[in-house]
Amino acid sequence: MKTQWIDELGQRVPLSRQPQDLQTYGRDWTRVYVPRPSAVVFPRHAEEVCEILQFCSQHGIAVVPSGGRTGLSAGAVAAEGELVLSLERLRDLGEVDPFGLTLTTGAGVTNHEVHVHCEHLGLTWPVDLASKGSCQVGGNLATNAGGIRVLRYGHARHWVTGLQVALMDGTLLNLGNAVQKDNVGPDLRQLMIGSEGILGIITRATLRLALLPTDRQVLFLAVDGMEAGLELLRHARIQGRFQLQAFEYMGRNCLEAVIKAQGVPSPFGGSGELPPAAVLIEVEGRLDGELDRWLEQVMAQKLVQDGLVAKSSADINRLWAYRDNITESLGRLGLMHKNDISVEVGRLAEFVHTLEKEVAPTFPGELYLFGHLGDGNLHINVMKPSATDPEEFWDGCHVADMQLYELLHKLGGSVSAEHGIGLLKKSALGFSRGPAEVATMRAVKKALDPEGLLNPGKVFDL
Ligand code: FAD
Ligand code: MLT
Ligand code: ZN
Repeated sequence: MKTQWIDELGQRVPLSRQPQDLQTYGRDWTRVYVPRPSAVVFPRHAEEVCEILQFCSQHGIAVVPSGGRTGLSAGAVAAEGELVLSLERLRDLGEVDPFGLTLTTGAGVTNHEVHVHCEHLGLTWPVDLASKGSCQVGGNLATNAGGIRVLRYGHARHWVTGLQVALMDGTLLNLGNAVQKDNVGPDLRQLMIGSEGILGIITRATLRLALLPTDRQVLFLAVDGMEAGLELLRHARIQGRFQLQAFEYMGRNCLEAVIKAQGVPSPFGGSGELPPAAVLIEVEGRLDGELDRWLEQVMAQKLVQDGLVAKSSADINRLWAYRDNITESLGRLGLMHKNDISVEVGRLAEFVHTLEKEVAPTFPGELYLFGHLGDGNLHINVMKPSATDPEEFWDGCHVADMQLYELLHKLGGSVSAEHGIGLLKKSALGFSRGPAEVATMRAVKKALDPEGLLNPGKVFDL
């Protein structure tokens, strides 16, 4: 491979070719592709991002934008000799605007750092996910991240007023600022959000903030399975006179994985058998006994078998840890194939019924189900049996996936509720987006990046 361009670029901006950096920055959280970038660049400000992109356009070099590398669809993977452009040094973090409740931040600031920055003012950016310690604002917006509070606040795209984006030819676009109301033509800012780094590189964002929920009430309830969990959700929505912040589901084997990997006791105490599933519910506000009355009702109706109510903030954190640690714990127990699907909440029972009867037996490993039940979003994880060869496992999962996607297509569901398409889910795209829609996406991509140099091969092939 010709590498003269790397030396030339390295004289202009911070660049690394250290094997360890190539390994680290050439991949995200997925473990399917082998990272093989040519180099990693670390621009220090937006102008340097533009300079790099202009240089790469002139030399025909492919670029992979890289945030906190917690992505689950291989969107930030560089497996074909691309240049990785890390946003981690774009770390300007402004003051909170107390009038408009906004905050301007560099793309490389982590989600958690934003939360900590506004917490003392009783404010938050309500995009909250278990990877918050590492994922970055730029990555959250490039993936239109969901998380555990979508039920209450919606996806990341609802919490942005302004975006700065660098295009592949080196142009820097300022799309909106802190102004809340701004209807001037098509909204390019929203086009960029969720585009997985294939249309432009987010360098800065102005975020909308929400009040930090006070009087958080957290329940951790044992249920008889998915159907019971859904029935509980229906009760909470219709009869519960309270605002749900989160409604999360985890099957027994997910809970077992957390207990084993983290070395923690059963949330329900004792050494008895775990229930078939558990639901974590968070509710906000002063409730004057409303939540207790609701809990009594659902227990009387036997929708809940056992339950815990957090009594302190330490309890809240302890109970949330069972949910937040699922992904990391499953990853420690073995190699996982992941699907991230959604259907209308009202059709989830029908989906799960067919999944368990017809699709699950075709996967070459045990299924681990958890997710954001309140949003109709299930994470379907398949564990590779230790005796199975990884290639054979991926191939088997791919075949089974097609049946899963057919089922989703039939129910009008989505093949990617929150993680995006990246490299990993390209064969799924056509099950949730029609040919005319994909052709329109391609036309947009070609208009902004005619040579296909920005995050090539992600989402679709040109
Ligand atoms: P990366 O992984 O670095 O990149 C993701 C994509 O965005 C890639 O295509 C990359 O090229 C592009 N990109 C990154 N930065 C930029 C930028 N500045 N400009 C343009 N493109 C860019 N996701 C959810 O939605 N909900 C969850 O609840 C959730 N929970 C998770 C829990 C765990 C434990 C883990 C490991 C992951 C979880 N994720 C979840 C997935 C992941 O954290 C999110 O997709 C997150 O938003 C990715 O941010 P990142 O900075 O790590 O991006
Ligand atoms: C979650 O909800 O924890 C995530 O989206 C991560 C996953 O699916 O593993
Ligand atoms: Zn999720």
